Amino acid sequence: MSGPISVKAALASTAPISGMQVQGWVRTRRDSKDFSFIELNDGSCLRSLQIIAKSTLPNYADVQRLQTGASIAVRGDLVASQGKGQAWEVVANEIEIVGPSDDTYPLQKKGHTPEFLREIAHLRPRSNLFGAVFRVRSRLAFAIHQFFQERGFVYVHTPIITGSDCEGAGELFRVTSLDLKQPPRRADGSIDYAQDFFARSTYLTVSGQLEGEAFACALSKIYTFGPTFRAENSNTSRHANEFWMIEPEMAFTNLNGNMDLAEETVKYLIRDIKTNCAEDLGLFSKFVDKELSARLDFVIDRPFQRITYTEAVELLKRSGEKFEFPVAYGANLQSEHERWLTEKHFKCPVTVFNYPQEIKPFYMRLNDDGKTVTAMDVLVPGIGEIVGGSQREERLEVLEENMRRHQMDPADYKWYLDLRRYGTVPHSGFGLGFERMLMFVTGVSNIRDVIPFARTPGSAEF
Ligand code: 4AD
Ligand code: MG
Repeated sequence: MSGPISVKAALASTAPISGMQVQGWVRTRRDSKDFSFIELNDGSCLRSLQIIAKSTLPNYADVQRLQTGASIAVRGDLVASQGKGQAWEVVANEIEIVGPSDDTYPLQKKGHTPEFLREIAHLRPRSNLFGAVFRVRSRLAFAIHQFFQERGFVYVHTPIITGSDCEGAGELFRVTSLDLKQPPRRADGSIDYAQDFFARSTYLTVSGQLEGEAFACALSKIYTFGPTFRAENSNTSRHANEFWMIEPEMAFTNLNGNMDLAEETVKYLIRDIKTNCAEDLGLFSKFVDKELSARLDFVIDRPFQRITYTEAVELLKRSGEKFEFPVAYGANLQSEHERWLTEKHFKCPVTVFNYPQEIKPFYMRLNDDGKTVTAMDVLVPGIGEIVGGSQREERLEVLEENMRRHQMDPADYKWYLDLRRYGTVPHSGFGLGFERMLMFVTGVSNIRDVIPFARTPGSAEF
């Protein structure tokens, strides 16, 4: 036999294997009279592999001192298990202790709180729950590429350092190499960013959309999938300051086509994870959210509800519900409103569209009513907004007018306006929050627990 195999491959074997190797970390060890039983996990799958260490091993005394968290390499034979709960186990001929551990190892068998586990974010992927979360995260990323590639979308890498504030919300992290103690100043005392590294103000991107539009207006169907950054001080279970976003953009597509794609994307991703991460989903259904499985099936099976913003406001007003924030036409839907619509009223995902112009960014297309724009948000139970998108304003004069209304100088966005000057087309796209999608498919209720090393206000450990 050549080279070690994964625990996953060992457990999936269809026949005994003599002379095989596995390696990983000790989850637990217990002794009986002539043996030591080791549960070995290497993160390749949820389950561990039982290793039988006979007392005749030359280093048996060292094996008996192995503690949870230690790393070992095992040579032995994969045989049908005598015990309950597993088909295969390994009878070891040799156990190499690669790295010992001791009883200060923080991940002992007892249950830990999510808060404690966040403090040991470097070790928590070794737990069952977080191993499962991050395997699903990996598969979800793959499924996203597969979905768009199968449909002819071209993957575009939009810049991470940018000069534009796409969402116009002013939630930008500045990128600068100026000496903060002695920045160059203009005559009026303000900092002279013309002398900064890029000879202008630059920031970490909040969205790849604007650059994505340029590519959609050339390659027709594109998507971005990368990190985005928002300096918003919202300490909630659904906001992170660094998160990943998937942003498809389609030329010759209106709001309806956009809503269709968003719905198809969410359903496809759920189906893919159900098929390819069944074992990990089983863990979430058992320990994280008992309704998970039923909810995911429900979402795949039914069309999403579609309502206008105006209808949503009417429903909320008539709901008789006491909300913390008032419901009024022209105000943003708050998270509690969104969740009432999707969880209490419709009990299924809801796409809300045609929002008042005043509460949406400059790039959204003005409807013929002159009041609303072609925005759409997909709301899902347990989370609220998972997708935000729109048809884009493709008419040069209307777009310039929107910019002025948003106190933007069209001269700063000449390149973006060029897309309307030369061969403009109706086009649409949306942003799907990767972590929110991951929360939805796993049932994990805090965004900090689906990001390897989360960045939130006041916290950038690791
Ligand atoms: O609704 P948003 O702000 O839309 C945009 O950025 C558009 N430029 C997208 C587009 O049309 N191409 O963000 C899109 C999605 C949200 O629906 C949400 O799922 C997620 O990104 N999101 C966040 N996820 C985690 N933490 C945050 N702070 C987030 N802000 C937005
Ligand atoms: Mg939004």
